[in-house]
Amino acid sequence: MSLRSRITGTGSYAPKKILDNFDLEKMVDTSDEWITERTGIKERRIADSSEAASDLSVEASKRALQSAGLKAKEIDMIIVATVSGDMPIPSTASFLQHKLGAKNAAAFDLNAACSGFIYGLAIADSFIKARGFKKILLVGVEVLSRFTDWEDRSTCILFGDAAGAVVIEPTEKDRGILSTHIYSDGSLWELICLPGGGSKCPSSKETVEKRQHYIKMKGNEIFKVAVRTLEKIVVDTLKANKIKPSELSLLIPHQANLRIIQATAQRLNLSMDRVVVNIDRYGNTSSASIPVALDEAVRTGRICDGDHILLEAFGGGLTWGSALIKW
Ligand code: ACO
Repeated sequence: MSLRSRITGTGSYAPKKILDNFDLEKMVDTSDEWITERTGIKERRIADSSEAASDLSVEASKRALQSAGLKAKEIDMIIVATVSGDMPIPSTASFLQHKLGAKNAAAFDLNAACSGFIYGLAIADSFIKARGFKKILLVGVEVLSRFTDWEDRSTCILFGDAAGAVVIEPTEKDRGILSTHIYSDGSLWELICLPGGGSKCPSSKETVEKRQHYIKMKGNEIFKVAVRTLEKIVVDTLKANKIKPSELSLLIPHQANLRIIQATAQRLNLSMDRVVVNIDRYGNTSSASIPVALDEAVRTGRICDGDHILLEAFGGGLTWGSALIKW
């Protein structure tokens, strides 16, 4: 049996403060009915002003380490997928390494927007198989509320804050990550971007006045590309592993829009009881959405040993990807 990597622990954390659709009705020209019908979102979590991405990550990571039965110093690599880290320098993974006391871990961030967790799984899987790493902590975390324009009704209804973490270890058994698939198309970068504050357009009085320090999105155009792309990769991923949709126990999709999730499930002929949906409670938490949904599925007993689980995501870049796991 060849070496595989396997998720041995999961954890998640969401800030306490809830912002529901009725709160948003008081902030912008929108309605609970519009948001629910168009997105499936009812409420989202907002980080306290004292909480940065690394603070959310610490809580999720402690829970993942506990469920894997590991101490922080046993971790040899920390990967944090995020687009809303504590600071541009250093990485959020560096803060997390220090706060956890993970003294023996390499640490870095990766930015693949909403596909970040899937990209992270692909990287962790490769480091375990090719470089002999033994215990990798992979975190997806976002504090998107800090980069959301609370005057723009087309985006502020969508995003939320959360963190999800997994521990990945090698196994020689016939289980674990069966395959990962990652893709991008940078020609479509303008469909979702945060234009201000980088080297292209450094922060200035002008960038702030133009509100360029907030996320800009052409939601309707992303929607169409997302549905088309996700329908293709879920089918391709199952084919690559010679697995029929009927053999799939659970689909854990990135939570961007309930209608996108339903379209993907329909393409596989999966009933919605085989799809993990928590967008109603968290909104779109980008890199965090899959590990949070996975952790909830594990903790509520929705995943059993030997189950085939398909993960998929789509996001800024554009980026997209999928992973098939035998639990
Ligand atoms: N409340 C009420 N009306 C609104 C709101 C709102 N919050 N937002 C937009 N509208 C209006 C628009 O102005 C428009 O009005 P008009 O017809 O008079 O011009 C109308 O509603 C329809 O707008 P659309 O943008 O066409 O609405 P759509 O059905 O596409 O839903 C949404 C918008 C929810 C954003 C959807 O397109 C979507 O989910 N897109 C995908 C987003 C996504 O997947 N992003 C991925 C990555 S995120 C990341 O990488 C961090």
